[in-house]
Amino acid sequence: MLPTKQIVLSGVQPSGELHIGNYLGSLKNFVELQDKYHCYFFLATYHSITEDYNPKTKKQDIFNLTLDFLAAGLDPKKCIIFNQVDVPECTELAWIFNTITPISELYRMTQFKDKSAKQVKNINMGLLDYPVLQAADILLYHSHLIPVGLDQIQHVEITRDIARHFNSKFGQYFTEPKPLLTKVPKVMSLLEPEKKMSKSAGPNHYIAINDEPEIIQEKLKRAVTGTGNEEVLPAGAQNLMALLAEFGIPKQTIYFKDQIKNKTIRYSELKETLAKDISEYFADFRKKRKELEKKPQYLEKVLKEGGQKAQKVAQKTLKEVKSLIGVI
Ligand code: ADP
Ligand code: TRP
Repeated sequence: MLPTKQIVLSGVQPSGELHIGNYLGSLKNFVELQDKYHCYFFLATYHSITEDYNPKTKKQDIFNLTLDFLAAGLDPKKCIIFNQVDVPECTELAWIFNTITPISELYRMTQFKDKSAKQVKNINMGLLDYPVLQAADILLYHSHLIPVGLDQIQHVEITRDIARHFNSKFGQYFTEPKPLLTKVPKVMSLLEPEKKMSKSAGPNHYIAINDEPEIIQEKLKRAVTGTGNEEVLPAGAQNLMALLAEFGIPKQTIYFKDQIKNKTIRYSELKETLAKDISEYFADFRKKRKELEKKPQYLEKVLKEGGQKAQKVAQKTLKEVKSLIGVI
């Protein structure tokens, strides 16, 4: 018998534009994985409402992220694309996991600390419980591999802890998932290259995958680099070189590396080259996205059908879990 395919799952929050960090850390990988594995990719809508947000624009965020998924190449014939809110079983499983998760573990989470510092007036329970809901997302579908950026490793680790804890308490049931990193698991901010590129820092910190060429050029012009005379390549320049390696051709990398070595680098030239490369790289994406934008009903259909498929699996898991914990 052929071995059954491993299960891959990941989620992205519908909250603002996707940037090239999201793309290189996760979405690009999703597109490659859909050909090899049984994949679930979903919109982590319930996670996204733990942050300050505008209820009037959330639906648009959901629409936009679905567009990004499809325009980037996710194919509903090859993978299951769904919105987390269409599978409410995740919140029920999260509740069950709450009863076996020590609060002290949750207070330790880096993301909880970072987000609490960002929204001091809204340190809500959901923000603390966020990793437990993520564990439920992952374990509901018996996922093996979780393609995410570096910042999410801690959440996959706690998911493993929760699975282990559950298994030791109620009997072997869940598989412990593993994170799957890309070559560029952490793209840095353009303006503060010591921090990761993130939506929440503001649009000039990131390049959105849907940015028009002029915008890309403008944003890169402002990117923090250095003087060109440093002994050690500054973080901002390192980041741009990492991006060039991903979006450009090898010849360009060799050319600029030589210049760095000889201390003749002109960052304006590097930025111009990179802006062109990124614009070209996403040209097809932008075109496809514009076409899909005219088909909101198709997008709705994709999410609805994906949700139905995911929910079938989720319902089965939840039933088995309820039986294992002795409540049915
Ligand atoms: P953000 O941090 O920008 O709000 P999300 O939390 O929605 O983005 O992350 C979606 C996916 O993109 C996750 O897998 C996350 O690990 C990845 N990711 C986010 N930022 C980066 C980055 N700067 N570099 C690489 N991957 C990233
Ligand atoms: N926390 C993830 C992020 O910010 C989103 C997410 C929610 C997720 N549930 C998940 C990622 C399950 C992987 C698996 O990017």
